[in-house]
Amino acid sequence: MMNMAILGFGTVGSGVAKVLTENAAEVAAGAGEEVRLKYIVDVRDMPDSPFAPLMVKDFSIVEQDPEVGVVVETIGGCGVALTFTRRALAAGKHVVTSNKQLVAEHGVELLALAKEKGVNYFFEASVGGGIPLLRPLFNDLSANKILAIKGIVNGTTNYILTAMEQSGTELDEALKEAQALGYAELNPDSDLDGTDAVRKACILADLAWGRELKPDLVPVEGIRNVALQDIRNAASAGGAIKLLCRLQRDESGKAYVWVAPHFVPASSMLAHVDSAYNAVIITGNAVGDTLFYGTGAGSIPTASAVVGDVVDAVRHKNAPRGIGWSDAPLALGDPETLPSRWYIRSGEKWSITDMATADKLPAAQVRYRVLD
Ligand code: HSE
Repeated sequence: MMNMAILGFGTVGSGVAKVLTENAAEVAAGAGEEVRLKYIVDVRDMPDSPFAPLMVKDFSIVEQDPEVGVVVETIGGCGVALTFTRRALAAGKHVVTSNKQLVAEHGVELLALAKEKGVNYFFEASVGGGIPLLRPLFNDLSANKILAIKGIVNGTTNYILTAMEQSGTELDEALKEAQALGYAELNPDSDLDGTDAVRKACILADLAWGRELKPDLVPVEGIRNVALQDIRNAASAGGAIKLLCRLQRDESGKAYVWVAPHFVPASSMLAHVDSAYNAVIITGNAVGDTLFYGTGAGSIPTASAVVGDVVDAVRHKNAPRGIGWSDAPLALGDPETLPSRWYIRSGEKWSITDMATADKLPAAQVRYRVLD
């Protein structure tokens, strides 16, 4: 039997406890042994929770318990989450997380520490929520040179853009509705400004190309300025305005990574990914295009990915997978120099340009790159 602990009993942490409990038989079959939740660490008191008897406030209880072999970190951010992850790995425990900020900013260090200690550090839930995405990328597609990745990786903004189109509302109103329904957080800055999508783009780049990409190097434009008029124009052509993360590499090895709203034509499957769903197209030189689609956020779908990582960590407890990437920086190019078609609008008039480089574009009030 393997004992585990959950650090942080919020949306994802509580989902992990639920999935682990309700699907205990499937988890045990996959892991090859029973996985028992022994502790939940959270600073809050939750006397009414069915898991109340497992709750402790002091992480060192987990750290010092030799019975605990797996720690799930669902605290988020790079504060105590970083400290506790370092300490758990240093104590020889496998760590599983959904924390994209921590992986994007400290992945090199934490993966090296895991390797040194002979344990796994897994983070499938950090990109695409419940969608199996990172393991296929580093495992099943490892025979490929990854040429490009393009995707909708933020459920909150995709929900808002879809709501704008379907209800005919401007962004502020769609945001309030999304917050009331729990699709957007009270502080939605990291979603609206594209920061969350940038962190996910970095993790995809790290895994695809084996070199570290720091989030502050990625050009980003969020959705705050997307107007209903542009969404209606795109819809009138059967397409949509979508916040995309884009990664591509040229023959010289230079990588282009950015996050921005795009005009997505009807011919792309990404135009039809609505609401809180995510979808990512990975293009490999051997396999061609592959599409990963599903629920990109939410307690139980995200917990599906976290608990799947727990199963894999236990199954490979004696032969860790040794995932990692180099701290050598990725050589980056400027996406503005990439030839593209553009959606441009001046007042009421809009059009799609021919293939042209950005510096040749006519002055326009609004422009979005077209996904070709
Ligand atoms: N805020 C994130 C999203 C949560 O909306 O996609 C999942 O990473």
